[in-house]
This record gives sequence, C-alpha cells and structure tokens, in this order.
Amino acid sequence: MKLLVTGGNGFIATNFVKLALNQKYEVTSLDNLSYASSIDNHKLFQNNNMFKFIKDDIRSEEIHKIIKTGNYDAVINFAAETHVDRSIKDDSSFMSTNINGTHNLISACRKLIVSGDLLDNFKFIQISTDEVYGSLTPKDNPFTEMSLLKPSNPYSASKASADVIALSYYTTHKFPIIVTRCSNNYGPYQYPEKLIPLSINKVNTHSKIPIYGNGQQIRDWIYVDDHCRGILKTLESGRLGEVYNFGGNSEMTNVDCLKSIIKSIDPVINTEELFEYVPDRPGHDVRYAIDSSKSLKELGWEPQETFSSGISKTISWYEENIDWLRTRVNSSEYKNWMVKNY
Ligand code: TYD
Repeated sequence: MKLLVTGGNGFIATNFVKLALNQKYEVTSLDNLSYASSIDNHKLFQNNNMFKFIKDDIRSEEIHKIIKTGNYDAVINFAAETHVDRSIKDDSSFMSTNINGTHNLISACRKLIVSGDLLDNFKFIQISTDEVYGSLTPKDNPFTEMSLLKPSNPYSASKASADVIALSYYTTHKFPIIVTRCSNNYGPYQYPEKLIPLSINKVNTHSKIPIYGNGQQIRDWIYVDDHCRGILKTLESGRLGEVYNFGGNSEMTNVDCLKSIIKSIDPVINTEELFEYVPDRPGHDVRYAIDSSKSLKELGWEPQETFSSGISKTISWYEENIDWLRTRVNSSEYKNWMVKNY
C-alpha cells in the first residue's frame, strides 16, 4: 500500500513514517522543510527503498500532479503549523497552511477521483487535535467526537476550520475522508520550543523552565507512538466520514508534568528551583481531556504507554540524540523565538 505523508518530516509524522515502513507500507514524505521539520529526521530511512522524499508545500499548484503521478492508496495530512504561541504572535502561516493548504490537498484529490485517476479504495486521513474542542473546566467530562467545536486561539481555530471543510467534502461529495483528533503528543523528534523537549533541554543545561501563569493548566499527554498506531488503525479500519479521538489517559497539571520530568532526569534536585513563573498565554485553555472510547470500540485502539514509561523513553532519546537537540537550540530560528516569546 502506497502512502503520501504530508508534513512527513515533522515530529509526529516522522514517528509515523518509521512505524508505517516497519509495517511494510511504501511511504513518500512531502514536506516544505520549514523550521520545525528537518531532512535529518529521515536519516534512519534514507536507504530504505520503500521510502521517498519530495520537497514541496501542500499549498503548491504542483500537488495535483504529484498525487496523480504517485498513484497513492492514501494521503495522510500531518502538514500544519502547530505552535499556539506562534499563532498568537502571527497567525498568517497558520491560516494559509492549515486551512488553504488542507483545502488545496483535499480538492486536488477530489478532482483526481472525479477524473478516475485515483484508486477505488483511496482514503484521505486528516490529522487534527483535541484543541479544536476548546477548553474544559476541571469538572467537565472529557471531549467526545460529538463535543462542540469551540477553539480558543488562532491555531486551534485554523485546525477546526480544516476539519469542518474536510467533513463537508464527505457529506457533499462523498469524499473518502476520516479525521483524527489527538491530545498533547510527546516523544522523539519534537522541536524544542514545545513544553516537554523545552523542559528536558532546560533541566539538562541547569536553566529555568518558564511556566505560564500558575502552571495549573491540565493537559492529557500521549506518547507519540501510541498516536501513530491509532492513525494506522484508522487507515486500516476507520469508517469514512467519521472522527476518532485519541488520548493518553495521562491528565496532569503542567507543574506536575514538569516535576515528573525533572525528577526522572535528576532525582535529588529541588524541582521548585528550576521553575520560573512567567506571564500567562492569552486565551490559555485551562484543560484538555479526551474520551477515546469510540476508538477502543471501533478500532480496538488504546494507549500502551503510561506517562512514566513514555517520558523515560523520551528523555533517553534526547540524551542519545543530543546533537539533534543542540543543532536546534543553537539555531537562530530557536534563539529568535525564545527572545520574542519570553
Ligand atoms: P504546548 O507544548 O505549547 O502545547 P499546547 O499549548 O498546544 O497544549 O504547551 C503545553 C502546556 O504547557 C500549555 O498549557 C502551555 C504550557 N507552557 C508553559 O507553561 N511554558 C512554556 O514555555 C510552554 C512552551 C508551554
């Protein structure tokens, strides 16, 4: 089975490509190699003849030709701008990539279906996020696939827009699409401006970790491989036109998450010494929590890692790949962002 993985050099997609190649899928990654994705991420598979790379952008006019030539069984769209804080400073690339780019991809695939240039069982999987549901209070029930879409920031609004466009194509055109929504991912290859790799780097360099507001916001953390297994199961047995939620069963406050990371790296350190409380993010969602029971029932999916097992794998990966991490934290892109944001 031939897959086109868009945004294939980013964090989650790199882990997905690795899993799919192990499961004997033929994979082409299409990526524009923007700041958070990298050609280095594919060193592991560059000699694998089941793997190909195309440098392009999901907004490009070439997309139609690329998909026609590749004759793929499925397109899995990971390509997105994903950092909420960046979307608060400047949302233009979020709107153009996450909304227009997704629309460009879907519309190219639909035209190819109409012209008979795609395989009969072709599928499009749109990778989304639990952030489209907005924020919960600590007492609310977790989000189900039926929860209202109520995004709070430009990033989540752009992802929600793409979701509704995608699902409207199913209703109107019977376009073969499935949407997946996942909680906060962590694991290998995550760009170090996101909370978990940022903290691992800060602890290792004995620097302070910036905590927004009071640090009592709650996130449900999922180890990236669990998410990727869920996407493969969606591809293999998900129903068209449906949404599937994936969560990690690991809800915790940001402060507790950071304490656990610090203790795993250095059990004797006084965790509070590494905390630096900074002004809160505007529109900061208080809590995300996911009900994955539909995915368990229909796809037989549930997360395999606990936060403790996943975080120790993640910390080990960053230790073993210290050059990967250093290249990024020493880049002008990263340094400029740190000055701009904190
Ligand atoms: P993040 O990794 O940006 O994911 P998201 O905002 O999409 O959930 O942040 C996770 C949580 O950590 C979120 O509540 C914001 C918080 N946070 C901090 O407290 N300090 C930081 O420096 C960053 C990047 C995030």
